[in-house]
Amino acid sequence: MKCSRPRWPNKGLVLAVGAFTLLLLFSLHVSPPTCAVPEKPPGTPETLTWTSPPARPPPTPCHANTSMADLPDFAQQPQHIRNFLLYRHCRNFPQLQDVPLEKCSQPVFLLLAIKSSPSNYERRELLRRTWGRERSVQGLQLRRLFLVGTDPSPHEARKVNRLLALEARTHRDILQWDFHDSFFNLTLKQVLFLQWQETRCTNASFVLNGDDDVFAHTENMVSYLQGHDPDRHLFVGHLIQNVGPIRISYSKYYVPTVVTQEEKYPPYCGGGGFLLSRFTATALRRAARVLDLFPIDDVFLGMCLKLEGLKPGSHSGIRTAGVHAPSARLSSFDPCFYRELLLVHRFLPYEMLLMWDALSQADLSCGKRTQVY
Ligand SMILES: *[C@@H]1O[C@H](CO)[C@@H](O)[C@H](O)[C@H]1NC(C)=O
Ligand SMILES: *[C@@H]1O[C@H](CO)[C@@H](O)[C@H](O)[C@H]1NC(C)=O
Ligand SMILES: *[C@@H]1O[C@H](CO)[C@@H](O)[C@H](O)[C@H]1NC(C)=O
Repeated sequence: MKCSRPRWPNKGLVLAVGAFTLLLLFSLHVSPPTCAVPEKPPGTPETLTWTSPPARPPPTPCHANTSMADLPDFAQQPQHIRNFLLYRHCRNFPQLQDVPLEKCSQPVFLLLAIKSSPSNYERRELLRRTWGRERSVQGLQLRRLFLVGTDPSPHEARKVNRLLALEARTHRDILQWDFHDSFFNLTLKQVLFLQWQETRCTNASFVLNGDDDVFAHTENMVSYLQGHDPDRHLFVGHLIQNVGPIRISYSKYYVPTVVTQEEKYPPYCGGGGFLLSRFTATALRRAARVLDLFPIDDVFLGMCLKLEGLKPGSHSGIRTAGVHAPSARLSSFDPCFYRELLLVHRFLPYEMLLMWDALSQADLSCGKRTQVY
């Protein structure tokens, strides 16, 4: 045991601390419930009540497929690969947090669906305050969702689930399912989101799917998307082609032959952030139903597109592999540089705030346009 019994300095102090704690608990208990004011997009009528979606019966628990253990090399695989194989067939998990029906009751132009780990509270807060703010841009509605699983450690999960319940109550932007939030379960998260969207937000014209550590220039995105028809194919991001599975067992992206024999991946867009139309979301949903889950989420979407006979496209304003400033004199944090982009990967929470603030300055003077497209 690592824990030793605490030794109290004296009884008087213990009593004082105890009394204070009681007082504090009591005052918290009797104070009127604080009503968090939900963000209201400009121009919406006052909604005093939020409508919860109808409760669904929890799915039957999904059990490990133990016959996977008979596959050659199974026992030699790292734990996360074994877990992936054992639970690959599981697709129905109880939903722990949902958003009110009103999320998509107005025509949504751009739905921001951001993958976030349960404990990434600071990232979610910064996104809410910056580029992910629900608002209207050029008269078109933006809505925000965070896609979250549960912490694999039961102790941590108890705490963090309460945090997520609190965030859901305050911000109404959490979709949480009861599966372990791990790198190899990101595909599951993506598939569950597409399923959710089918019944709850199918009319959103476009979706930005991305991570919570990107900076997305949502205003530029709206301008770009306005030139597109939501009922035609659109899937753009940082295009990756001519790569295949990494067979080095210590890599984060290691995929052994027991998972796939293929040596080539179809073209796909880096998972940090990509844009798609509702036409393409429907196609992905259809394909995802028939394909086996593949542990790397962005590659899986490439496989879905291929099955549907669709191709991912490249947008030079989406830089999920980091940006290279056009010249050594330009810092890659220069807001003038970002003014031209749609999305950039790897931002610290405070950097999001700085960039958002800089880009929002009306008098941002940048001189010569820096060519980044
Ligand atoms: C379990 O694994 C075996 C061996 O790979 C496979 O043939 C079978 O279809 C799997 N069962 C389910 C329910 O996925
Ligand atoms: C995915 O989530 C399920 C359900 O929580 C879990 O049993 C499985 O181990 C997870 N898979 C990975 C690769 O983490
Ligand atoms: C979505 O749009 C279709 C027509 O495009 C319409 O029939 C349907 O009622 C809409 N659904 C919602 C939930 O707004």
